[in-house]
Amino acid sequence: MIIKKASYLISSPSVDLCPKGDRPEYAFIGRSNVGKSSLINMLCNNQKLAKTSASPGKTQAINHFTIESAAKEKGALTPWYLVDLPGYGYAVTAQKTRRTWEQMIENYLRKRENLVNVFVLIDSRHEPQKIDLEFVNALGEWEIPFCIVFTKADKNKPKATEKNTKAFLDAMRETWQFLPPSFITSAIDKRGKDEILDLIQDYNKQVAAQK
Ligand code: GTP
Ligand code: MG
Repeated sequence: MIIKKASYLISSPSVDLCPKGDRPEYAFIGRSNVGKSSLINMLCNNQKLAKTSASPGKTQAINHFTIESAAKEKGALTPWYLVDLPGYGYAVTAQKTRRTWEQMIENYLRKRENLVNVFVLIDSRHEPQKIDLEFVNALGEWEIPFCIVFTKADKNKPKATEKNTKAFLDAMRETWQFLPPSFITSAIDKRGKDEILDLIQDYNKQVAAQK
């Protein structure tokens, strides 16, 4: 699948104010500064689409983007929504604000009916972090389908990336019988792009078949 057109639609402070859920939706989430907005821009071929920043805490609401895509060989596909969510675990934010964000994210994830899949971003430069494992376990408890996306792979030697990604998946195995799909990506060299877009295309097909 390729993205033909991606446009910013709206920023919503709560799930109740989100646009009508009339199409499949995919959300991107992860720790603050993990590279969510950069990954979204990479997938959409548009460096200016989602605002990126060297300082964490840039994305502060539920941001919807309208996506028009096409199959490589066959032409236009059904439109879908892509959502950029605020990062979790941003320590500098006042605790009260942080709690409000966490509640907003939890409500969105649990109540948004057209949400097909969540992409959980994990920084491939680090060893498994408790906060990320807690977050994927919460998704499991809430029965929300997700994939793991390891980010910033260009910043590491391949061996280090392999070690960190394997360690994270091994840590997940302690509580998970089956592991979700996982991807190694870089917003710089664009690795992982085709695999993620093809997975979204597959999910969109499944959603259409269920109607
Ligand atoms: P918040 O919205 O603040 O939670 O951050 P975010 O997760 O959206 O991260 P963002 O995309 O703004 O990226 C944070 C920083 O990491 C920026 O300085 C990016 O340029 C950098 N970055 C993101 N992805 C990559 C990557 O794949 N490779 C490299 N080298 N840098 C990256
Ligand atoms: Mg962001």
